[in-house]
Amino acid sequence: MVETDFLIIGSGIAGLTLALRLSDLGHVTVVTKKGRSETATALAQGGIAAVLSHHDAFFLHEYDTLKAGDGLCHESMVNLCVRSGPDRIRELEALGVEFTRRPDGTYDLGKEGSHSRRRVVHAGDFTGSVIQQILVRQVVERKNITILENHIAVDVLTQGKIRSIQGGDPGINGKVEPQRCVGAYVLDVSAGVVETFVAPVTILATGGAGKVYLYTSNPDVATGDGIAIAYRAGARIANMEFVQFHPTCLYHPMAKNFLISEALRGEGAILLDPDHRPFMHEYAPEEKELATRDLVARAIDSVLKKSGKECVYLDISHRDPAFIKRRFPNIYEACKRYGFDITKEPIPVVPAAHYMCGGVVTDSYGQTDIIGLFAVGETACTGLHGANRLASNSLLEGLVMAARAACHIQDNLEELKSAPVPRVPDWNPGGAVDLDEAVLVSHNWDVIRRLMWDYVGIVRSNKRLALAKKRLSPILEEINRHYWDYTVTRDFLELRNLAQVAELVVRAASARQESRGGHFNMDYPEKDDWNWRRDTILSRDDPSAST
Ligand code: SIN
Repeated sequence: MVETDFLIIGSGIAGLTLALRLSDLGHVTVVTKKGRSETATALAQGGIAAVLSHHDAFFLHEYDTLKAGDGLCHESMVNLCVRSGPDRIRELEALGVEFTRRPDGTYDLGKEGSHSRRRVVHAGDFTGSVIQQILVRQVVERKNITILENHIAVDVLTQGKIRSIQGGDPGINGKVEPQRCVGAYVLDVSAGVVETFVAPVTILATGGAGKVYLYTSNPDVATGDGIAIAYRAGARIANMEFVQFHPTCLYHPMAKNFLISEALRGEGAILLDPDHRPFMHEYAPEEKELATRDLVARAIDSVLKKSGKECVYLDISHRDPAFIKRRFPNIYEACKRYGFDITKEPIPVVPAAHYMCGGVVTDSYGQTDIIGLFAVGETACTGLHGANRLASNSLLEGLVMAARAACHIQDNLEELKSAPVPRVPDWNPGGAVDLDEAVLVSHNWDVIRRLMWDYVGIVRSNKRLALAKKRLSPILEEINRHYWDYTVTRDFLELRNLAQVAELVVRAASARQESRGGHFNMDYPEKDDWNWRRDTILSRDDPSAST
């Protein structure tokens, strides 16, 4: 059994920022399922939205966030995140992050879809990678932080779960009643051993779940682990139908959905149909290429369906080549490797799953329904993003919520540490044997991701959602059986989480009988504020979706 003060699961911007802040209060253990920098943060190109120019104002950033969120943002969270943005940016700079500046020393602020002002600070188009490197360097230097790579959480340990493992009081009506989280079971992938971590505070910072879809801009680690773990522990999960599809990922068999940042459209890039004609004026006459992402992604989807072709094109070749290479060095080089010169020609692009607007329900300090269990970053649903996230608000949320969670934990440390440490049973593999046929995992992995793309993608319908539910059900049962019969591996745990998240997305999407933000259902094409201006809440103990 490993005892630590703070157990952080995940090593992106939210997890590592929180680790740094908590390291003054006690010992922090960060577990991360692959390498410490294999995170969505490291891939972020655009930057961080914050009010940093006198041409901008908090109320404008708030307005843009609320507009993108399409009626479901929690206004207090929007105010809070927007107004703390500038301070969080300065803290990152104090750690060593250098944002791109103009010759006069002011920030070179980028523009992205649905922002009424230039307000995205960036480090070229490597923003996330620069931030990740600096945070990792800082974390490694702190004596009070241990970072364990190739460690994947199996499940968090709640008092209720411990009681049920010990065969004790199963709780009210036979249901396990989780009130407090006391740590987690974590698989050390290299050793193949499940270790027990005991901590008064556990934080889920595992990022998003883009791998639930066949095409995604996300890294391979984005399998929704934190959301699935919190759901199984009994915490509420919200708004899983609001999956954000990024309109422009490079279309190339080897590119693995390399993102072409929205910042290109912010600098004038135009979308072209398969015959190389502009089309966004037909779908969003005013904002065109800079309309909200849900609208642009649906427009592309419609052009692709009408034409029967596989991709549309993005063209920035009318801009000065020197500017393009200076502003987008990463994208320029990557496209060149795949045979496209963005300074000379349009490049083929397709939409791909990009961001999960829903997640584990938290309060404005990252506290979930379970005492001692926090969720931060993309894993959480704080209410900031509503039905559709405003571009570049996600790194902002990660920073703001890490800072708020740290303050809250500090203020309540005595109470959080006061709970007696229970006798936590070691992981019991029972009669589980090694799964000698990897195909049992890889087949279901492929089926789920294809099913979600085809049936629960950018445009949905009742029929497709019902089919998705029907097809997922036996897969979930099979995975559950395997969980008990076979020793756990990282691939299997990821599949188990992926399947759970897919089920949550389907359930939430089926419940919402309207179209709003990132959720569009052909059978309910209109927005229905009267009945549906509310979050979709899912909970293990209440199988129906409610508010
Ligand atoms: C992008 O650079 O287009 C992605 C930014 C974001 O998702 O916020």
